[in-house]
Amino acid sequence: MCGITGYLGYREAYPIVINGLQRLEYRGYDSAGIVLTSKENKLKLFKTKGKVSDLKKIAKKNNTEGNLGLGHTRWATHGVPNNANSHPHISNSGNLVIVHNGIIENYNTIKKELIKRGYIFHSDTDTEVLINLIEEVQIKNNCKLGKAVQLALTNVVGAYAIAVYDINNPTEIIIARLGSPLAIGIGENNSEFFVASDASPFIEYTKDAIYLDDEELAIIKLGKTIRVRKIHDDSIVEPNIQELKLNLEQIEKGGYDHFMLKEIHEQPQAISDTYRGRLLADKGIIKMGSVDNNIAKFLNAKRIIVVACGTSWHAGLVGEYLLEDLARIPVEVEYASEFRYRNPIINKGDIVIAISQSGETADTLAAIKLAKSKGAFVFGICNVVGSSIARETDSGAYTHAGPEIGVASTKAFTTQITLLALMALKLGNLNGELSNSKFHDYLQKMSMIPGKIEQLLNINSEIEKIAAIYKDAPNCLYLGRGYNFPVALEGALKLKEISYIHAEGYPAAEMKHGPIALIDESMPVVVIATKKGHYDKVVSNIQEIKSRNGKIIAIVTEGDTIVKEIADHVIEIPETEEAFTPLLTTIPLQLLSYHIAVMRGCNVDQPRNLAKSVTVE
Ligand code: F6R
Repeated sequence: MCGITGYLGYREAYPIVINGLQRLEYRGYDSAGIVLTSKENKLKLFKTKGKVSDLKKIAKKNNTEGNLGLGHTRWATHGVPNNANSHPHISNSGNLVIVHNGIIENYNTIKKELIKRGYIFHSDTDTEVLINLIEEVQIKNNCKLGKAVQLALTNVVGAYAIAVYDINNPTEIIIARLGSPLAIGIGENNSEFFVASDASPFIEYTKDAIYLDDEELAIIKLGKTIRVRKIHDDSIVEPNIQELKLNLEQIEKGGYDHFMLKEIHEQPQAISDTYRGRLLADKGIIKMGSVDNNIAKFLNAKRIIVVACGTSWHAGLVGEYLLEDLARIPVEVEYASEFRYRNPIINKGDIVIAISQSGETADTLAAIKLAKSKGAFVFGICNVVGSSIARETDSGAYTHAGPEIGVASTKAFTTQITLLALMALKLGNLNGELSNSKFHDYLQKMSMIPGKIEQLLNINSEIEKIAAIYKDAPNCLYLGRGYNFPVALEGALKLKEISYIHAEGYPAAEMKHGPIALIDESMPVVVIATKKGHYDKVVSNIQEIKSRNGKIIAIVTEGDTIVKEIADHVIEIPETEEAFTPLLTTIPLQLLSYHIAVMRGCNVDQPRNLAKSVTVE
């Protein structure tokens, strides 16, 4: 939710900041802005409703010189997307500038106080309130900017990642975070600094980075070592400089039209990366350091509660089937947003697994904090290394899917399932629910999944043809059972979020309890009917749809003959264990929504109203 970036150093700030904004655009894209400062010209501010490309057009006509700059790409929370509400915002004196990601919940109370003191506001944003509060605090206390930011933040309620500077002091940026991520890139000998919501804007300049923790404020001064302190108790924090593993290639489209298509095609590699060092099929072992180190907790677990949102929640549902089926551990899957507010019961011996691609989702983070406060051991499954959730959990495992930039989650989903499958198999074998021979058989079959996805991706053009037939459908139903019920939910979510076609996922047998009323000749129904997954029952459901003239797109196991007779379109997936079919059945559903969205002229990578990382509740 909102991307912020900045540069302070000896290079021209504009190209660095504008490129950075383009890389962060997945975080929000309803308006964009940039502020630049040079010795000659202290304040150059360009901002606009629209995308970073619109901002570039405006900046092109202007002088963009300056070695200090901050940029922002917005996902609106307070105030509609328009030029006035776009960031950066300036304080009333015209001296202080700010970019902000997050929400200041008590902004209205503060605003009223500031208005009484004569402050004037030009936007509806909480951010403009914050920069004026900082100014007021600085004037009142006659202190340095770092101190003023710190004092002001002790008066706000909410979440933030901010970067602030004074145009009269172009050698310093103050940044702070609570609940929204912030990274600092450090140039050689502190000769330049980069600030961003994630490290992607500066990976070609430096590999040395610091990720701020919640409640931390950093004073970044040219030529000086960064100083970090805790906002509330003023204690000094020794910054932990990490080496970035990210490379440029990973965050570029690499010849694909969209990041989503690239990421769909990356799944064989992404899953192999999730396996790396963990799935040792030839040796008949699954090694997972974070599970091994806590093995007694896992083996004695009375119950596992999964907390997650959106697609990650769907992966959690597949995890429920895997862990209950293979390891016989009871599992409950909860929306993090509900869990955090409903006073959940957590007993001794319960384990909470939090799943999140970004590792920044506000509701999931809050659910983790609540579970920890009730004494639970919390295990995280995240993709983004060093993310807030990765740091907040007691232990965890990374999916290693690589950066996922398309807003619609694809490879994150399949790699989350992969990790959950590894855990379920390992625990099932160790607790005696899975015999060694069955376990070894599963491992062999699991190791073949990336190759099978590779093979499956060849159906792309076939799916494109199906997409062309149904691209104008107003609604679509997705049905699946057992392991593939969550895949039906995920298929429907993918379609609605990127093509804006209304879609619903249902357990196939539930259709007759309501959704069947929707079926007529204009209703496409995607049915997952793999060989071992309650096949006969799903075939009966398909018959029920057919007799009401619904159009059936069936996902079947290769060699199927029965469904082929009934369905309008059939997509075959390679044979595998039923437990692993979600890793295959998901692929055609991702491609189907992708092609439909492209044919409808939708912005696949940046669907309307969405953002990649939901750091507000
Ligand atoms: C859908 C999608 C979202 C996310 C959800 C949770 O394609 O991407 O539903 O899955 O916002 O995000 P993470 O996994 O980052 O916690």
